[in-house]
Amino acid sequence: MRHLISAGDLTRDDAVLILDTAEEMARVADRPIKKLPTLRGRTVVNLFFEDSTRTRISFEAAAKRLSADVINFSAKGSSVSKGESLKDTALTLEAMGADAVVIRHHASGAPYRLANSGWIDGAVVNAGDGTHEHPTQALLDAFTLRRRLVGRDSGIGRDLAGRRVTIVGDILHSRVARSNVLLLHTLGAEVTLVAPPTLLPIGVDHWPCQVSYDLDAVLPKSDAVMMLRVQRERMNAAFFPTEREYSRRYGLDGDRMAKMPETSVVMHPGPMNRGMEITAEVADSDRCTAVEQVANGVSTRMAVLYLLLGGYEPANPTPARTQE
Ligand code: CP
Repeated sequence: MRHLISAGDLTRDDAVLILDTAEEMARVADRPIKKLPTLRGRTVVNLFFEDSTRTRISFEAAAKRLSADVINFSAKGSSVSKGESLKDTALTLEAMGADAVVIRHHASGAPYRLANSGWIDGAVVNAGDGTHEHPTQALLDAFTLRRRLVGRDSGIGRDLAGRRVTIVGDILHSRVARSNVLLLHTLGAEVTLVAPPTLLPIGVDHWPCQVSYDLDAVLPKSDAVMMLRVQRERMNAAFFPTEREYSRRYGLDGDRMAKMPETSVVMHPGPMNRGMEITAEVADSDRCTAVEQVANGVSTRMAVLYLLLGGYEPANPTPARTQE
């Protein structure tokens, strides 16, 4: 694995290796000294052109726990605001000796451009590009699902085959949804998307999942329900139902959660619009894994950085899209 741009680039073996490695990395977090010397002398740059709390902090924590040097770059306050291009920013990072660049960008495809440009030699990790993909979010979600639905002590290579995952809400603008559909399908899970017709992307009928408009009908058949943030900042108000209407039809409250099987879980990638797609009662319940997902994000990102920078050779060659 040379770069991590899309969850769709991962074979089942790649994905299971990352999840199993993340399980090993999670043990580091349980130690009094939460560090491994693995990436000592390597440099990881966090290149964030869009706001982030969870992803940026957890990549920083992950790199530091592996003893890498970390450079945090935020477009705000940098020469990007003076008009500097992605190319010149990348060449600057290359001159500083970046071994890995973790990039979040508002433009879909920016990480792919960086990985295939020849501007930098290091590994590129997509930390969220526009409305396209967020592969490490999907990996940490799969890690959380394995732990919650399959159990953490049931051995290496546990998978999600046959597990039913429902993803609800603003699919149109969600890079989390697309990456989760691709990865969960690779891992054998059955995914159903539930959304208003105006918040589904064109071509969704070609995605490897089912689509429903009836949340109440799908809930009793779900092992996990992943609520998505309504991304008001990316949408045209004309295409959006009122907040009240949206919550009534697609929001998860206590009454709806009661329709889910007792062993099922509620997920949210964050940040949440409490009172919109999820009520505080549900968000703060034991069934909701939102905080657990954040903690699992550090272990999962440790695994990704370790495998990208530690010389891992995949069973299958990296797909052409991600090669230099
Ligand atoms: N889930 C997620 O990507 O959160 P941030 O935007 O805070 O990184």
